[in-house]
Amino acid sequence: MPNDTGFVPHDTRADVVDAAISGLSASPKTLPPTLFYDAEGCRLFYEITRQPEYYLTRTETVLLRSIAPTLVPDGFGDAVLVEFGGSDESKARILLDRPDTSFQTYVSIDVAEVALRAMRDRLEVSHPGLTVVPVVADFMQPLQLPALGSPRMGFFPGSTIGNLDPAAATRFLAAARVSLGADAWFLLGADLRKSPRVLLPAYNDAAGVTAAFNLNLLRRLNREAAADFKLDGFRHEAIWNDRDSRIEMHLVSDREQSVCLAGRRIDFFEGESIHTENSYKHTEQRLVAIARDGGWEAQRVWKDPAGWFGIFLLRGG
Ligand code: AVI
Repeated sequence: MPNDTGFVPHDTRADVVDAAISGLSASPKTLPPTLFYDAEGCRLFYEITRQPEYYLTRTETVLLRSIAPTLVPDGFGDAVLVEFGGSDESKARILLDRPDTSFQTYVSIDVAEVALRAMRDRLEVSHPGLTVVPVVADFMQPLQLPALGSPRMGFFPGSTIGNLDPAAATRFLAAARVSLGADAWFLLGADLRKSPRVLLPAYNDAAGVTAAFNLNLLRRLNREAAADFKLDGFRHEAIWNDRDSRIEMHLVSDREQSVCLAGRRIDFFEGESIHTENSYKHTEQRLVAIARDGGWEAQRVWKDPAGWFGIFLLRGG
């Protein structure tokens, strides 16, 4: 997986074809963001996280490093860290490397089995005393975790929560609460609402990496869904939807054109868009409310000095 996203390249070709047909037959046309993450999409996402305009990854990493020594609640020893979508353990390492080593066990839930195995191999070398438990599963569903003791702390960094609409975010948090069991804790990293003057460049970087990431979706459909998209017939567009408090990514048809996909004809008018992703930018208060709806109470919120990114420590009831 792309490492930072929670989304994984696990779709079969049949899944890709089904998702593409259903999204492109809808009005307005859509494609699910899960389709971004083929091997090239993962590589491009990694490049996005290194662009100067994409402040999210570096802001969260610096914040997490600064709070790591203090974020663990009192009496939290021999604990279990459970990352949702964690086949790349780079952010978890910031917590696992804490000098008082509160975490004895690291459980990582992801559908990317090969990536999970590689993660376990890396941690076995760097953290020989840590018990590493890869769990191959879709973390959006409640699941039965192995009996690993407590206390347990869920971990969902990277602002992937923002790629879920608020109802889905609540469902995810409620499922995580069931999976983690009573009295668990949860650490959530989320990008916050701010000026579109900061947000828009982050999704429209000058080097064109986000545009390439968005357009790669069409390349993937050409390869895996027998489509014939002409990549020069579509352009990347990122817009700020103030009412819904989200960045939207679109692929906009530059002309009237028809595309063939898995034997079907799909027509586009000039200027018609395919909506490919939402990235919600909630306020701190809204995120606290979404967490509460999912069964979690916010105990503490840390923000970077500019107030751009929040890390929320939640407690399950
Ligand atoms: C994975 N996720 C948090 C990213 C975001 O910022 O919404 C995905 C992304 N899309 C475009 N750039 C980055």
